[in-house]
Amino acid sequence: MADSVNSTTGDGAEPSPDDRIAAVRDGALAALAALSAAETADGLQEWRNRYIGRSGEVTLLLRSVGSLPPEQRAGFGQGANRLKNELEAAFDQREAEISATTGPVGAIDVSLPGRTPAKGRLHPITQTIREITDAFAAMGFQTFEGPEVELERYNFDAMNIPSDHPAREMFDTFWLDRVDEEGDRSILLRTHTSPMQARIMETHEPPIRVVVPGRCYRYEATDASHDWHFNQVEVMAVDENITFADLKGTLYEFARRVFGPERKVRFRCDFFPFVEPGVDLAIDCFNCDGDPACRICRGSGWLEILGAGMVHPRVLRYSGYDPERYTGFAAGMGVERVAMLKHGIDDIRHFYTNDMRFLSQF
Ligand code: DAH
Repeated sequence: MADSVNSTTGDGAEPSPDDRIAAVRDGALAALAALSAAETADGLQEWRNRYIGRSGEVTLLLRSVGSLPPEQRAGFGQGANRLKNELEAAFDQREAEISATTGPVGAIDVSLPGRTPAKGRLHPITQTIREITDAFAAMGFQTFEGPEVELERYNFDAMNIPSDHPAREMFDTFWLDRVDEEGDRSILLRTHTSPMQARIMETHEPPIRVVVPGRCYRYEATDASHDWHFNQVEVMAVDENITFADLKGTLYEFARRVFGPERKVRFRCDFFPFVEPGVDLAIDCFNCDGDPACRICRGSGWLEILGAGMVHPRVLRYSGYDPERYTGFAAGMGVERVAMLKHGIDDIRHFYTNDMRFLSQF
């Protein structure tokens, strides 16, 4: 049985014009009845396009009028037009029936759960800075911030790193083009947050207990563990009678708060020009039990977290403090390193490429 204008009957003879109209009618009405009550707006639209749309089957019937013998044209045209009206009416009725059971076709289903908008979050480095400063805040330390564009005098001289000191090489940095009255370039992007020790001592009276997070810069080739910019947190306490025991107790408590209450800490001698004595602090690896294949501690069992020491008498004196009366301790740590250790991140560059696949994990 032919069901479209292009079909032919089984014996190869052309169907009569009336048969063609009847075939389209039967097909269209059957398809319309078959649209289920759960039909979407798309299903109805598809039906309309197929039968009464601009290149639908009924439209093709109407267009084919010209190819009929003249005596058949009027009757066929009328028949096809009647069919068009009939199908339009049937469509409206079916659409109304479906709407009656499901609500308007294509309407929003208010019972569906809503789409939760994606929430923003803090950058992992900001989160880590806050964890660190919160740990110190709980021990009475105030948070300060200072300039990233710093005077050479604070970045180096005040920190007991005079211009001929070999330690300046460790801190090769970006200098600004501006020259001072003596013709020297004296402004740079700070290489560490330590200059804030001097700035705070100059403007505050003891007792001082501060943490200073902030960006630092070094003229350095970038690789998985180095970047030309990074963040540090400086820690400093200055008062009468501050001893190495205060340094140990405070940093031990910090390590436990940030890395877990079961952490062990290890202090070893180290050298920094602005402290005497100087130490480096390591925590026992939280990822392994001395497993030689551990990718966090590389089998050493220890993770170096920060440098620290008793504030050098020259640093105290530079800022106008009498080292016979006041003592203090200071510490400095790299925030990216702390975050990388905490989360097992293997490349510092992940923090600054703004890839949401990385950032949305924190
Ligand atoms: N400023 C040092 C650096 O950037 C880190 C540091 C080490 C800071 C020891 C300190 C300290 O306050 O006592 O490498």
